[in-house]
Amino acid sequence: MSRIAYVNGCYLPHGAASVHIEDRGYQFADGVYEVIAVRNGVLIDGNWHMDRLRRSLSELQIRMPMATPALNVVLCETARRNRFRDGIVYLQVSRGVARRDHPFPSADTRPALVVTARRTPPIPAKFVEEGVAVISQPDIRWGRCDIKSISLLPNVLVKQAARVKGAFEAWQVDGDGFVTEGASTNAWIINEEGHLITRPVENTILNGITRRRLIALAKVQGIVVEERRFSLEEAKLAREAFLTSTTAFVLPVVQIDETVLGNGRPGSNTAMLRQIYLDFVAEKALKTG
Ligand SMILES: Cc1ncc(COP(=O)(O)O)c(C=O)c1O
Repeated sequence: MSRIAYVNGCYLPHGAASVHIEDRGYQFADGVYEVIAVRNGVLIDGNWHMDRLRRSLSELQIRMPMATPALNVVLCETARRNRFRDGIVYLQVSRGVARRDHPFPSADTRPALVVTARRTPPIPAKFVEEGVAVISQPDIRWGRCDIKSISLLPNVLVKQAARVKGAFEAWQVDGDGFVTEGASTNAWIINEEGHLITRPVENTILNGITRRRLIALAKVQGIVVEERRFSLEEAKLAREAFLTSTTAFVLPVVQIDETVLGNGRPGSNTAMLRQIYLDFVAEKALKTG
């Protein structure tokens, strides 16, 4: 079955979908994106993703390409036309097409919108049952990691470094030795008291939607969440560690660089948090429309 993409007002076969060579996303990485999980045809935490999209765009002074309700229709329709129930929707908004020049183009330049959608295979059971390894890498990114920018070269480089070493993710470390986040995931540790520790929302990390949701779900359970910086050293001594993202949900981390955490098996707290998150997604997925 052929895939369908949405590009600036048209639904097109994936292979025929294209953008202009002077799209500023292509030339300057002048744009932002979102990745939203789809379960049973429902966009999981779609409203929060839309809020983050609006924020990213506003920080870069790019207009929303259309009103939020219309954009929601496009996202759901793109998912529907690709005929899957469980997968992801990717959307990207760039500042639009203009002759190549660094300053913003004229105010009437229309932002460009691309939406793709695809079925995603379930996370391999091995990752959940045995946990994953991460490596540490210096964080060389810019000062506005809170914006979900399509400029991802540093993230690409550290993720590749992880792959080369057989690791799932790279935890980036700032100049003071504190973990910021993964290349495409947020980083967490659990201390001896069972408190969840994750870096506070600031310009050095993306405010992950999964992170935000998990904090809310954990608090309902009475679990203490400490939003504070933690060092790589502290992480290596932690009782448990895990990562979160739209595509991985909650995944146990059992090794950081050469250091094996605890007994090298995923911890019970992480397993419980993953289940809490899965239950939340399953409940949302029942609500069609
Ligand atoms: C740098 C970075 N941090 C964290 C995340 C996790 O965010 P979310 O839970 O919204 O997928 C992502 C997701 O792409 C990311 O790119």
